[in-house]
Amino acid sequence: MIFLLIVIYTMFGSITSFYYNSELYVPKHKDFLDVQTNLTDQLFKDYNPTVSPVYTWIDVEQPIGYDREAPKRWNYTVFLYYLKLVEVKEPEEKVSVVLELMEYWFDARLSWNPSHFHNTTTFYTRQDNVWSPTLTAFGVNDIMDFRDQDNRMVCIDNTGFLWNYISVRVSANCQMDVSRFPFDTQICQIQFCLPIFYRVQVEVLSEIYEGIMDEKIFKTMGNSEWKLINLTNRVEVLKYNDNMGNMDLVRVTVIREFQLFLFQAIFEITIRRNPLYYIYMIVFPSFVINFVSIVGVFLNGADKMSRLNVGLTNIMTMTFILGVMADKIPRTGNIPLLGIYIIINLVIMLIAIAIVTAITELRRWATPMLKLKRTALRAQIETFLGPPLEYTCAIILELMTCANFMVMIGFWFDDGS
Ligand SMILES: *[C@@H]1O[C@H](CO)[C@@H](O)[C@H](O)[C@H]1NC(C)=O
Ligand SMILES: *[C@@H]1O[C@H](CO)[C@@H](O)[C@H](O)[C@H]1NC(C)=O
Ligand SMILES: *[C@@H]1O[C@H](CO)[C@@H](O)[C@H](O)[C@H]1NC(C)=O
Ligand SMILES: *[C@@H]1O[C@H](CO)[C@@H](O)[C@H](O)[C@H]1NC(C)=O
Repeated sequence: MIFLLIVIYTMFGSITSFYYNSELYVPKHKDFLDVQTNLTDQLFKDYNPTVSPVYTWIDVEQPIGYDREAPKRWNYTVFLYYLKLVEVKEPEEKVSVVLELMEYWFDARLSWNPSHFHNTTTFYTRQDNVWSPTLTAFGVNDIMDFRDQDNRMVCIDNTGFLWNYISVRVSANCQMDVSRFPFDTQICQIQFCLPIFYRVQVEVLSEIYEGIMDEKIFKTMGNSEWKLINLTNRVEVLKYNDNMGNMDLVRVTVIREFQLFLFQAIFEITIRRNPLYYIYMIVFPSFVINFVSIVGVFLNGADKMSRLNVGLTNIMTMTFILGVMADKIPRTGNIPLLGIYIIINLVIMLIAIAIVTAITELRRWATPMLKLKRTALRAQIETFLGPPLEYTCAIILELMTCANFMVMIGFWFDDGS
């Protein structure tokens, strides 16, 4: 009988209180856990996590805040904590970034009086236990949430304030202006919205952690080719006006306005390319090639065919370089700076070939005529038609090549400041 009582007692005891080892845990921890259990039991007793706390006794056709007794719009904030540029695909006009975000909102059903619960002001729980808004990226190509669906946590405080942390990779489409390539700066927007809700009911806010607005941190957010130079946030309204005009006989225009509002939190990044790669892979080599080729084309004593060969090889090289550049830029209508630079080099080379050919032909045509009568002037012209004319042209063309190169480098310094 006593044995049975002991068995029942131990069973009962082990059911009503969890095993608490005071050597492993300080007593205060047990008190806290008890209070927290009480608190969460009470909070979640009548809580339905599938229904939102957004106040809907609102006429959506009225302006914001028309009802003075209604609560303020339910607000939802996206807070940018860190951003990392992953890649920029110019031909496809896509920019991928990893965003570390916090989102926070209020749920009035999850507020309590801390003095009733031993001054407990916060606790953490699984996100499934509470209602949470669905953050939606707007107009992006691809979004990937790195969190495991089952392991998302939220923190709740006694005012009904909830927050959680999101880590996402977003691939956004950004229109790129490559007219200054490779000294270009691009602006890209990443947009988030809360679909379905009306704007009179819900307010979307965006914030940026002040700590990252620092040049040192900015350096870590770009990649080796692109440098982040500005990060701004704002909220915009996407508004469609769909006017259905109806003109009747007495010339009264009845316009019914249908507006679809979508509230968007926008993070805008400005990135600048590091042009060094293109300077030493394309700009400088093509300058050297052009410079040497002009010398080769005007080289005295070389026969006509080898001069032409030098010119043609140069043209082929330039065309190849243009092809390399074409892989890096979107197929837009405007020619980038680098393209203009290479095309000018090409044109200079064409002029060089044309001049050399023309001088040779001119000499062949003019020499017999000049030799008909011997005067000092004619002798001078004959000499001038030889090397002096070629050298003058060569120097002019070399100067043009140098000027072209200098202008290109000038854009670099202009961009760097
Ligand atoms: C938990 O709640 C019950 C019932 O409301 C109460 O009797 C008990 O004292 C509470 N425990 C704590 C630790 O507050
Ligand atoms: C967001 O809503 C909460 C609770 O309704 C309110 O206390 C807070 O002031 C609001 N924030 C803004 C920026 O309106
Ligand atoms: C809760 O906080 C109030 C005010 O700070 C304090 O007077 C009270 O003793 C605290 N209660 C407990 C149980 O810690
Ligand atoms: C960043 O952009 C904002 C808004 O356009 C502007 O006011 C600010 O001067 C910019 N900062 C830099 C460093 O360009």
